[in-house]
Amino acid sequence: MTESAAQIILSARSTGLTGSVRVPGDKSVSHRALMFGGLAIGETRITGLLEGEDVMNTAKAMRALGASVEREVDADGGTTWVVRGRGVGGLLEPGEVLDMGNSGTGARLLCGVLASHPITAVMTGDASLRSRPMDRVVAPLGLMGARFESRDGNRLPLTVIGTGDPVPMVYESPVASAQIKSAVLLAGLQAKGATTVIEPAATRDHTERMLRHFGADVRSETVADQPGAVAVTVVGQPELEGSNIVVPGDPSSAAFLIVAALITADSEVSLLNVGLNPHRTGLFETLKDMGADLAIANERVEGGEPVGDLVARSSKLRGVVVPAARAPSMIDEYPVLAMAAACAEGETRMEGLGELRVKESDRLSAIADGLNSCDVMCEIDGDTLIVSGCAGAVPGDAVAQVHLDHRIAMSFLVLGLASEQPIGIDDDEAIATSYPSFLADMTTLGANFKKVADPKRTSG
Ligand code: S3P
Repeated sequence: MTESAAQIILSARSTGLTGSVRVPGDKSVSHRALMFGGLAIGETRITGLLEGEDVMNTAKAMRALGASVEREVDADGGTTWVVRGRGVGGLLEPGEVLDMGNSGTGARLLCGVLASHPITAVMTGDASLRSRPMDRVVAPLGLMGARFESRDGNRLPLTVIGTGDPVPMVYESPVASAQIKSAVLLAGLQAKGATTVIEPAATRDHTERMLRHFGADVRSETVADQPGAVAVTVVGQPELEGSNIVVPGDPSSAAFLIVAALITADSEVSLLNVGLNPHRTGLFETLKDMGADLAIANERVEGGEPVGDLVARSSKLRGVVVPAARAPSMIDEYPVLAMAAACAEGETRMEGLGELRVKESDRLSAIADGLNSCDVMCEIDGDTLIVSGCAGAVPGDAVAQVHLDHRIAMSFLVLGLASEQPIGIDDDEAIATSYPSFLADMTTLGANFKKVADPKRTSG
């Protein structure tokens, strides 16, 4: 057993988090930059790429498919990822199994790419990813002509037998999911004609923005008689041209530092260069409804995405109702919102969270179980999560189970900062999938994190 395997991270009550942090690059944008660069002709130069495990697995997969993906470091230590692509439809059959690790985004978007190439590829992932549903992309991509072989429930490992001549179609997605939308649009790139995805509610539009940036014809329109729905159409067989991409800081990573500052006394934390795509900012809106002292400055557009700097200060929070309609714009932020809710005064009801059941873990259960173990009342009523706030410090004194889920891990470490007794997590390795420098950044701000012997392994 290694030393680290016998230790866990414990987060203890802290005061005065201060400083400024440049959070790592956006995970969604990073995956897309590597994949679309691989489908473009010429050179794509990416700065700010997230070097987390999920994205590194996508880089490896694109190499296995014949794209050149290299990391360059300049004299000042600045990093640029350079992708030389093979053109739409030009990727090669991989000679190895594509291991997408923990990443649903990597796996599902790549299914769209593979489905529209005349190749056979096998994809797998870690235990979390192997348990997640792939039907949601297998079904529409099958309609376009791809074939899939998998074990029960269309879960990974999955063999994709692609087609070089996918059928363009109009697909009405039953779920508001940017991953489904993107997989179908990526397959549509190789189709002769226009492919349309109708999503029941607008989801993050990084795919649309970036495909346009690479030269594709992509349109988004509202849908008559379907309030809130969006129809996104890509015209097939474009010449994608290699481009420069600036990846903004990830608002989903910034979320942990923001909530940490809000719930920790005497704190003021600045987050620089954070992506503010309007389909990603539901958490910021919700925290403001809760009374958060959260300011956005320096708003600008960089690389086709809105960005800005955020300043979060300690705040007295109150419980709110978060409507289901807001879920697509903050789908990854409910774990950390639940931690803010645990410290707030009154009840917070988060509605329409069925999709949280199929994320990196069953997040509804992981949040509820973890909070209950910290003596915070939390219940699940259908798709609604209800947290009874403690109006200040939560009791704590628990070790939360992470279930291979980076966002559950970071959320409970954040909660420990405002708890009477420390909170630990049973596994910190998952954090590296999206935010490898999280522990270092938090410690620099003043978080009281320490490694201690795992009580489970050391007790009798
Ligand atoms: C993502 C979309 C979301 C999100 C995931 C990243 C993306 O999933 O949860 O972390 O990059 O497209 P769904 O669109 O399936 O909800």
